[in-house]
Amino acid sequence: MAFFAHQIRRGFSSSAVRNVVIKQVTIIGGGQMGAGIAQVAASTGHSVTLVDTSDDILKKSIKTIEGSLKRVVKKKFADKPEAGEEFIQKVLKNVSTSTDVGSAVQGSDLVLEAIVENLKIKQDLFSRLDKLAPAHTIFASNTSSLPISDISSATNRLDRFGGLHFFNPVPMMKLVEVIGTSTTSQETFDSLLNFSKVLGKTPVSCKDTPGFIVNRLFVPYLYEAIRLYERGHGSKEDIDIAMKLGVGYPMGPFELSDYIGLDTIKFIMDGWREMDPDNTLFAPSELMDKLVAEGKLGKKTGEGFYKYKWKLN
Ligand code: CAA
Repeated sequence: MAFFAHQIRRGFSSSAVRNVVIKQVTIIGGGQMGAGIAQVAASTGHSVTLVDTSDDILKKSIKTIEGSLKRVVKKKFADKPEAGEEFIQKVLKNVSTSTDVGSAVQGSDLVLEAIVENLKIKQDLFSRLDKLAPAHTIFASNTSSLPISDISSATNRLDRFGGLHFFNPVPMMKLVEVIGTSTTSQETFDSLLNFSKVLGKTPVSCKDTPGFIVNRLFVPYLYEAIRLYERGHGSKEDIDIAMKLGVGYPMGPFELSDYIGLDTIKFIMDGWREMDPDNTLFAPSELMDKLVAEGKLGKKTGEGFYKYKWKLN
C-alpha cells in the first residue's frame, strides 16, 4: 500500500516535463559547498554557472576550486603532471561566474541553491527564480536541515523541485542525499538521482524529514560529544582520539565540528529543538552557544573548539 501511494505520488506529475538530462547547471552560493559542487559538476563535463552577490566572493570560490583541483590532480595524475594541468584548465573552462541570477538561470537544466540556511531568504530567492528560469528547469536545494517542501512552497514548480544534499568536502565525499517531497514528480526525482550518479557520487533516496538520513544521526552525535566534554567525562583531544581509533572515524567530533562550522551545526540543532522542545536528543550545549556568540565558528574563523594557524577562504 505504501509502495502504491509512493508510485501515485511520483508517477503522475502535473507538468508535461519529461525526464530532464542535466547538462547546464546554475549553482547559487559560492561558499565551501557551492564551490565544491561546482567543481564536481564541472569535472564531470557539465557547464556550470556559479552565482554569488559579489565578484570578490566569486574570485575566492574559483581560488578554492583551483586549490582543490590541484589536490585531486596530485593523486589522479601523479605520474602525468601535464595531463593533470590540462585537466584543471578543462574543468575551469566549464565554470563561469555571475552576480546576476536572472541571466545565470537562462538555459539552465538545474538550479541548485547552496546559500545561507535561512528559510525566508531561500524562499525569496526561489520565488524570484521561478519567474526567470525556463519551464523545464529543475530547482533543488542543498539545505542540510530545512524542509524542502517549505522552500518549494514559494514557487509554482512543486513537481520540479527536490533536495540534493552534498557533504563537505564535496570533491571527496561520495554520498548525495536525494530528497523528494510529496509533490516532486518521479521524472524530477529520477533526473536528480541520475545527475548524482553522473557526478560520480552514490545517491540515497530520502524522505523530506528533518536532517534527512545523515544529519538526523550525525548532529545529535556531535552534540552528545560536546555535552560529554561539558560534563567533564573526557578532554576534547581524548574524545577525538577515541572516536578515530575506537570506531575508525576519519575525524573526531570536535575536529569535525570545527571543519563543518559551529554556526551550521548549532543552527540545525536549534531548528529541531524549536520543532520538538522535549526531545532530549536536541538539548542545547552552553559551550556551543558561547563559542558561536563569540564568533568562534571553527576553521573558517581561525578558532572553534581548537585554534588554527590559518583560516579557510
Ligand atoms: N579537495 C580535494 N582533495 C581533498 C580535499 C579537498 N577539499 N580534502 C582532502 N583531499 C584529498 C587530498 O588528496 C588530500 O591529500 P593532500 O593533503 O596531499 O592534498 C587527501 O584527501 C588527504 O587529506 P588530508 O591529509 O587532509 O586528510 P584525510 O586523509 O583525513 O582526508 C577528509 C580528509 C577527506 C576530509 C577526511 O578527514 C574525512 O573524510 N573527514 C570526514 C569528513 C566528513 O565527515 N564530512 C561530512 C561532514 S557533514 C556534512 O557535510 C553535512 C552537513 O550538512 C553538515
